[in-house]
Amino acid sequence: MSNTNQGPVTVLGLGMMGAALANAFVRNGNPTTVWNRSAGKAEALVAQGAVFAPDIREAIAAGPVVVACVSTYEVLNELFAGAAAELKGKVVVNLTSGTPEDARAAAVWAEQHGVRYLDGAVMAVPQMIGLPQALIFYGGSQELFAEQEELLKPLAGTGVYLGEDTGVPMIYDLGLLSLLWSSLAGYFHAVALVRSAGVPAEAFTPFAAGWIEHVIAPAIPQSAREIDSNSFETEVSSLDVNKAAIEHLVATSRQLGINSDLPAAVQALIERRVAQGFGTHSLASLVEAFEQG
Ligand SMILES: NC(=O)c1ccc[n+]([C@@H]2O[C@H](COP(=O)([O-])OP(=O)(O)OC[C@H]3O[C@@H](n4cnc5c(N)ncnc54)[C@H](OP(=O)(O)O)[C@@H]3O)[C@@H](O)[C@H]2O)c1
Repeated sequence: MSNTNQGPVTVLGLGMMGAALANAFVRNGNPTTVWNRSAGKAEALVAQGAVFAPDIREAIAAGPVVVACVSTYEVLNELFAGAAAELKGKVVVNLTSGTPEDARAAAVWAEQHGVRYLDGAVMAVPQMIGLPQALIFYGGSQELFAEQEELLKPLAGTGVYLGEDTGVPMIYDLGLLSLLWSSLAGYFHAVALVRSAGVPAEAFTPFAAGWIEHVIAPAIPQSAREIDSNSFETEVSSLDVNKAAIEHLVATSRQLGINSDLPAAVQALIERRVAQGFGTHSLASLVEAFEQG
């Protein structure tokens, strides 16, 4: 009996991510047809057993499922517009990153052109593709995801279906990127502070790592509980207490000539909530400051 995990697949786009996706299919034994604007990027994959189709329409026609990963939705839309006839009746799993609205518009286009469409957000770097720790979020028809889930397994240890709205994977993607950029920016600001005292970044690592493990990571589930139950009263660390502390951080950064934009932005949110009468709330209540725009 044939394994549904090893069906034929076409991969469009062989940049860093697309090549890693195609590579995972080839390693898994899926007959893999590949296409890329610059043909040279297919060479290594062809050497491993992939078939290169020089024409995108030929690549799409080669099998029932197309996995697309190009730089932007603008590029994707242009490529698809030129191959609408070949795409009709195919399954498209689009792993290009963009905005939730890009993903929703692509789903509308697919629906109008008889294409069965899933959108996905890859939460991994190319080197992680195919490994257990790789994560991909998917959105679109539940029936279609159930049908394609096995085929998509070689790409990531965890494939999470988030519902019919194809914009939601991108919202999760951007949410995790927001967390990544803001937390790392906080770390870099902290390192600028300690370097002002002549301390190398690595000397600070045990304290930064321990702080994340013992203070910041546990604050995430705790904050989520408070946010979902709309109950922010705290006896541990109120906004009033944080307002006083962050003043020291902003003032010290300025004194040392260190850019204070990041802590000043957080300070403004805290001050706004305190001015609105929520000084006894925990930091989790800042979610409402964000939601107020
Ligand atoms: N790399 C990562 O760590 C990572 C992680 C998560 C998500 N992603 C997302 O995955 C997508 C691809 O990223 P990547 O890292 O593979 O980028 P990349 O290495 O820059 O590759 C871009 C791909 O898009 C193609 N392309 C660009 N403009 C084109 C055009 N006008 N016509 C046809 N093809 C065009 C390129 O073709 P050529 O080879 O001919 O230039 C190439 O296949 C992006 O949306 C990115 O945000 C990447």
